[in-house]
Amino acid sequence: MTDQVTLTQFIIEQQRGLPDASGTFTLLLNNIVTACKQISHRVNRGALIGVLGSAGSENVQGEVQKKLDIITNDIMVKALDWGGHLGGMASEEIDDPIKIPKQYPKGKYLVLFDPLDGSSNIDINLTVGTIFSVLRCREGVEPETEDFLRKGSEQVCAGFVLYGPSTMLVLTTGNGVNGFTLDQDIGEFILTHRNMRIPEESSEFAINMSNQRFWEAPVKRYIDECIAGQEGPRGKNFNMRWVASLVADVYRILNRGGVFLYPYDLRDPERPGKLRLMYEANPMAFIIEQAGGLCSTGTERILDIKPHDIHQRVPLIFGSKNEIERLISYYQQPT
Ligand code: AHG
Ligand code: MN
Ligand code: MN
Ligand code: MN
Repeated sequence: MTDQVTLTQFIIEQQRGLPDASGTFTLLLNNIVTACKQISHRVNRGALIGVLGSAGSENVQGEVQKKLDIITNDIMVKALDWGGHLGGMASEEIDDPIKIPKQYPKGKYLVLFDPLDGSSNIDINLTVGTIFSVLRCREGVEPETEDFLRKGSEQVCAGFVLYGPSTMLVLTTGNGVNGFTLDQDIGEFILTHRNMRIPEESSEFAINMSNQRFWEAPVKRYIDECIAGQEGPRGKNFNMRWVASLVADVYRILNRGGVFLYPYDLRDPERPGKLRLMYEANPMAFIIEQAGGLCSTGTERILDIKPHDIHQRVPLIFGSKNEIERLISYYQQPT
């Protein structure tokens, strides 16, 4: 096929004519993509190269790290630190922001990433992914933690790569959402899903039902009404899916609509949700909104949250517009 558009061509054409298009962003994205191709290769080789299983260590969130959590983190850092386009990085797996080594110049962007999302699924050969978020920073200075604590609405780019039956990249730079499939034969991401839009109506929800006893009233009500089906107040039957890889659940919703909830949880006031604002909620919120969906904690738009900690967790509810509006209205009603 001669009319295929590669990711690089797509980005260069999109950036052309923009006021500060210096090519730096294209190089940054290219390095992220190179890292993700390397990760795709490792994930694909799996047990053949001995990368599955636990590393025996814990990250700052108290999660036991898989070997691949660490390997993928190192791949991201090594692919990104040399390019001169970054002031610093932050990762789900590393306690403090990652500094750019002294021998390299510092640039005007910050990258935050979840190097391996859904890592509990890696040993059972289910879909996992890499999520990233790009912010601007003051050029040429060593960023402080404070420099990373920016609202999601300030992101200049967000994306994720899905290591599934196909390896796919889903990307937004604030101008819609586009999907690219990795052609393994030529090593290029090819534009395959132009201008992805989330259907406004849906009858599919995603939630970890084992946490039901810890949910707040609005979520209990919403899910009860879905489960009541045709005979209930919604007057239609709902289906349920839960992959336990955020990347896969987001990708499904981008394609056929639906609702995802990892809501506020009454278990532990110190932990108001499971998913991380900077590495998971913000990039996904940017993508979801750019595809016509909504993303909220239930009481606040995710992209409006002023972060106070690079590893903070948030309740996360997103998906088809009409369903999320309904859920938000349940939060607004007195219980
Ligand atoms: P990570 O593997 O990066 O730590 O993220 C796991 C997340 C996310 O991918 C998924 O939506 C959620 O955890 C699943 O949580 P449960 O195991 O509680 O269902
Ligand atoms: Mn993790
Ligand atoms: Mn994750
Ligand atoms: Mn992870």
